Amino acid sequence: MSHLFSPFQLKGVTLRNRIAVPPMCQYSAVDGVPNAWHLAHYTGLARGGAGLVIVEATGVSAEGRITPGCLGLWNQAQADALAPIAAAIAETGAVPGIQIGHAGRKASANLPWEGDDHIDEDDARGWPTLAPSAIAFGGGLSKLPQEMTIDDIKRVQADFVAAAERARDAGFKWLELHFAHGYLAQSFFSAYSNQRDDAYGGSCDNRARFLLETVAAVRAVWPAELPLTARMGVIEYDGRDEETLSESIELVRQMRERGLDLLNVSINFVIPTGVVPWGTPSFLAPIAQRVRNEAGIPVAVGWCVDGAEAAETIVQEQQSDLVMIGRAHLANPHYPYQLAQELGVDNPAWATLPAPYAHWLARYRGPGRASAQ
Ligand SMILES: Cc1cc2nc3c(=O)[nH]c(=O)nc-3n(C[C@H](O)[C@H](O)[C@H](O)COP(=O)(O)O)c2cc1C
Repeated sequence: MSHLFSPFQLKGVTLRNRIAVPPMCQYSAVDGVPNAWHLAHYTGLARGGAGLVIVEATGVSAEGRITPGCLGLWNQAQADALAPIAAAIAETGAVPGIQIGHAGRKASANLPWEGDDHIDEDDARGWPTLAPSAIAFGGGLSKLPQEMTIDDIKRVQADFVAAAERARDAGFKWLELHFAHGYLAQSFFSAYSNQRDDAYGGSCDNRARFLLETVAAVRAVWPAELPLTARMGVIEYDGRDEETLSESIELVRQMRERGLDLLNVSINFVIPTGVVPWGTPSFLAPIAQRVRNEAGIPVAVGWCVDGAEAAETIVQEQQSDLVMIGRAHLANPHYPYQLAQELGVDNPAWATLPAPYAHWLARYRGPGRASAQ
């Protein structure tokens, strides 16, 4: 029996297996509105057999987008165009999820294939950025952000709530708050980027305040029977990892008390100089297991999970409840079928693919039927 291909229930939602497509920006929207590219992309991924497909980082406001090509959920036109994508994902048997976020001081960036750096100050496509403190990220993202006022903080939190309501009404069944990767929420929790001296900075409790208030506010509008999750970095790889990890685990515990149902464990990326162990397969899995055990919450984990055995082991050893598999899905949208074949899952095509594909690819079809075509 494969653990990877066993169902997973969280609240009123059941995933058909433990494979999740993590959010992956397509940088292909105009004014935050998804188009034919997004519909085809997400439908194709969902047909491939994952239990959960999470739509890419979607800005809660125009200034919260990473690039001008990122999706948004700050108006009804965006929600109306996302609804068919949620429906198409659900139609395949996968659960439709969406990640909502604010990019903070990393916003206003060029598309990755056009530089991945901040848009020039004199370029009309760019916009002013917001952050807990007026400290630039550095490297190619050196634009100086504006320090947020308390009014700014309250407005962004209200934007998260409004975006969650639109995601709910558009038919998404799984919400992921983007609290990771050095974007706004992650930058509130890190002392590198948050040097405020008011209630939102300084002590660990104060740096946690923006995240905790946002979880509670979104939970109030996100249906009780649907999973509310977050993606958050718990490690910076800066040599102070034990301290960051234990502070983060305490924060996750408090988020759980405010209604968070699962943490998608990730990397901080608040500074450009972290030494991430890219060469080590599944390097985050043991960290995810610590969060799972010590914060007492289900977790998801990804980054460099390399192949069927690696994914199976993570679930079997209870390092993580879900395995996020990103780039392998871009290379092969039917990657779960490949994983099922490698793990010897019974009827791997029927376990992972819709009938118009599975019928022709099933291993165990009766004699004679193949020769009929
Ligand atoms: C094209 C691309 C876009 C991404 N966009 C997002 C995103 O919108 N939100 C996010 O949290 N992570 C994003 N990531 C990170 C992925 O979710 C994932 O963590 C990463 O690809 C590592 O998993 P992998 O080794 O299986 O690819 C992106 C990654 C890629 C390759």
